[in-house]
Amino acid sequence: MTPAQYQQFCTLLEKHSGILLSEDKRYLVETRLGRVVRELNFLSMDELVERLFNRPDSILLKAVIEAMTTNETLWFRDEYPFNALRDVFFPEAEAARKRTVRIWSAACSSGQEPYSISMIAAEKPWSFAVEILGTDLSSKILAQAKSGLYDDLSLGRGLSLARKQRFFDHTAQGWQLKSEITRRVRFQVANLLEPVTALGRFDLIFCRNVLIYFSRETKMKIIDHLANALNQNGVLILGASESAQQLSDRFSIERLPGGGAAFRLIK
Ligand SMILES: C[S@@+](CC[C@H](N)C(=O)[O-])C[C@H]1O[C@@H](n2cnc3c(N)ncnc32)[C@H](O)[C@@H]1O
Repeated sequence: MTPAQYQQFCTLLEKHSGILLSEDKRYLVETRLGRVVRELNFLSMDELVERLFNRPDSILLKAVIEAMTTNETLWFRDEYPFNALRDVFFPEAEAARKRTVRIWSAACSSGQEPYSISMIAAEKPWSFAVEILGTDLSSKILAQAKSGLYDDLSLGRGLSLARKQRFFDHTAQGWQLKSEITRRVRFQVANLLEPVTALGRFDLIFCRNVLIYFSRETKMKIIDHLANALNQNGVLILGASESAQQLSDRFSIERLPGGGAAFRLIK
């Protein structure tokens, strides 16, 4: 890729996904697009780039954007958000006599986050039902999430032995999540750049470790979309290194027991 082509590629990627690449990511782009060249049977990178810039179709665009997403995730990532669900937000919903708690795991990758939430819901007899929606830009990673099937390596990341034994069946294909956990979770493709009115309102939104890829302007726009998707008094939980402060005046910050923070909708 020439420097000019790389610039053009960065503009296209940001327009469709929000993902902002720095100058030093050229090697990463070439490696990831190399996979698309092979998958879609292009003769060369030049041919792919020429098609992408001049005659892109939806299949090519989708493959290229999916190839550029970073799907790194793990079970009970950072722990504190899941402890806060169990110790703060679920008891609060119980005190408010809620019948259903709706939770959105936005940019959920291969499903570890929404399924970790479902495990917290399963571990105590709460007085309300829990509905979880997992969304991501990538339909490929969502297919993996929907399958509820994981290998030893991914189970080794953040999941206790007790939870592995309780919530999974060992099959010839790998570790299959039991319906006790999958039944609360549904998945849907959704781009965070687009307003989300069709998804309904949520009591809690997890949107973790994805804002880091976006420009300040895109972060502000997305946080506003997320605020619009929350019920009154709803709570937004971001990644450990992310914050809604300085980006929106619609939230107050709440320190969580055991570290970390959540953002409560105030307007
Ligand atoms: C690093 S993973 C984070 C997964 C999980 N939330 C966690 O914290 O472990 C980031 C995810 O964001 C998704 N993503 C990137 N841009 C997106 C966008 N514009 N809309 C929705 N999802 C997006 C990627 O496909 C990827 O699965």
